[in-house]
Amino acid sequence: MGRPRRTHRVRPQVARRALKLLSPRIYSNCYTRLMITTERLLLRPLETSDAGPLAELFADPDVMRYSDDGPHQDNEWVGDWVSARIKDARESGFGVLAVTDRANGGILGYCGLVTHAELDGQPEISIGYRLIKRYWGHGFGSEAASAVMAHAHSALRIKRVVATIDPHNDASLRLAKKIGMVYEKDVMLPGYTYPDHLYTSVD
Ligand SMILES: CC(C)(COP(=O)(O)OP(=O)(O)OC[C@H]1O[C@@H](n2cnc3c(N)ncnc32)[C@H](O)[C@@H]1OP(=O)(O)O)[C@@H](O)C(=O)NCCC(=O)NCCS
Repeated sequence: MGRPRRTHRVRPQVARRALKLLSPRIYSNCYTRLMITTERLLLRPLETSDAGPLAELFADPDVMRYSDDGPHQDNEWVGDWVSARIKDARESGFGVLAVTDRANGGILGYCGLVTHAELDGQPEISIGYRLIKRYWGHGFGSEAASAVMAHAHSALRIKRVVATIDPHNDASLRLAKKIGMVYEKDVMLPGYTYPDHLYTSVD
């Protein structure tokens, strides 16, 4: 009698192929060379020339609706913001990435990690994301944020990532839950008039 057939076992090459489709591909761990690809996106380090396309995002009152500052019509402000994020990332080894269309390199927005020396009494690393409005509602936000979260936990070995979200920002709340974050507490941030919700992802 032959060996019983193992009907439920997934062949390794099939499993690997499936995983490749689901997982983001990360090409380097160093910020200046980092490239993360997903099905439709390429996430790459910010460059000073990104200030031009990102100006549309920062000038849009709808994009900036739940932010503590802005909108910003001033291109110099955007240039300074991009330069500051590049400097932060070079110092800490991780940071904010440009979210681009894999097919043509066009910028959709940004997504990435921000270090806080103190957030509600303790140091934290948060995830942040903003897309130019015409790219909303196509799943790009969750595609980018889940890739950044996977990179944070698996490559950078960051145990805890948080997001502070205005309780009225339904899109961001849904996105956070979609990428596996859970509500932990309300946090009253300096200068705010009502608390944000703090969501966490713990590896
Ligand atoms: C938050 C943001 C990045 C989401 O980007 P996006 O590409 O539109 O998000 P997705 O298409 O991946 O959608 C994620 C989830 O939110 C839901 N969603 C999207 N827009 C929504 C809206 N206006 N109201 C309610 N739910 C919404 C989607 O249906 C999806 O949930 P589901 O798959 O369970 O149905 C985008 O809305 C944005 O840039 N907003 C302005 C900046 C901002 O608020 N950033 C967050 C600060 S904390």
